[in-house]
Amino acid sequence: MSNIANHIAIIMDGNGRWAQQHGLKRSKGHERGAEVVREITIFCSNHPDVKYLTLYAFSTENWKRPKLEVDFLMKLLERYLRRELPVYLENNTKFETIGDLSRFSKSLQKLIAEIKEKTAHCNGLVQNLALNYGSKDEIVRAANAVVSSNKTLTIESLEEHLDCNCDVDLLIRTGGDHRLSNYVLWQSAYAELFFTETLWPDFTKENLQNIIDKFTKIERRFGGLK
Ligand code: FPP
Repeated sequence: MSNIANHIAIIMDGNGRWAQQHGLKRSKGHERGAEVVREITIFCSNHPDVKYLTLYAFSTENWKRPKLEVDFLMKLLERYLRRELPVYLENNTKFETIGDLSRFSKSLQKLIAEIKEKTAHCNGLVQNLALNYGSKDEIVRAANAVVSSNKTLTIESLEEHLDCNCDVDLLIRTGGDHRLSNYVLWQSAYAELFFTETLWPDFTKENLQNIIDKFTKIERRFGGLK
C-alpha cells in the first residue's frame, strides 16, 4: 500500500516570525517566503506523484493587516509573477489561481490572466495560488452559481462551481499552529493533515519529501473499512 500525493495544499505560515528571529522587517520574511515558493514548486514539478500544488498566498482575511503590509504583499506577488514566467515554462508548470480576483488592482488581474494564458499549454504540475481566497467565500459563491443555473444543489453540482474541484490528499501547515484558517475546507474532507514547527522561510524540499514519505504509509480508509 502506498498513497499518491496527487494534490498537496500548503498553509505557508511563519514569514513574520522568521524575519523577527533574524532581526529583519516582516517584508524580508515575505521575500524569503516567495523564494521558498519557487523552490518548492520546482521540486513538485519534478516529483512523480504531485500533480497539483495549492499554496495559500493571500486570504480573504489578510486584508485586515496594516495597509503597508498588504501593499507590500501585492507588489511582491506582482514581482514574483513577472520573474516566474520563464521558470513555469522551463518546468512545464501551469499557473492557476483560486479565490476572488475582483478585489485586486486591474493591473495585477491583467498580469495574472497573462501568466495563466502563457502557461495554459503546460501539462506538468499545476501551481494553484490561493489569492483573496477563503473557503467560506468559495462555497457561498459556488452555491449561488448553482442557484442561478436553476440546478438542484447536490455535492456534484456544487463541486462543479468551486474554484478548485480536486480533492486534497495532503494538507501541510508550517509555523507551528494547528488550524485550517478557512483553507480548502471542502476539498480537504479526507486530506491527511501535517503540521510542522518549521517556519515557511526555513521549509525545504527535504522537509517536504519527509512529509510525503510519511503520507505514503498512512492507511487511508475514506470512512470505509480495510
Ligand atoms: C504567513 O506569514 C504568510 C502569508 C500572509 C502569505 C504567504 C506569503 C508568502 C509565502 C510570500 C509571497 C508569496 C508569493 C506567491 C509571492 P505570516 O506573516 O502570517 O507569519 P507570522 O505568523 O510569523 O506573522
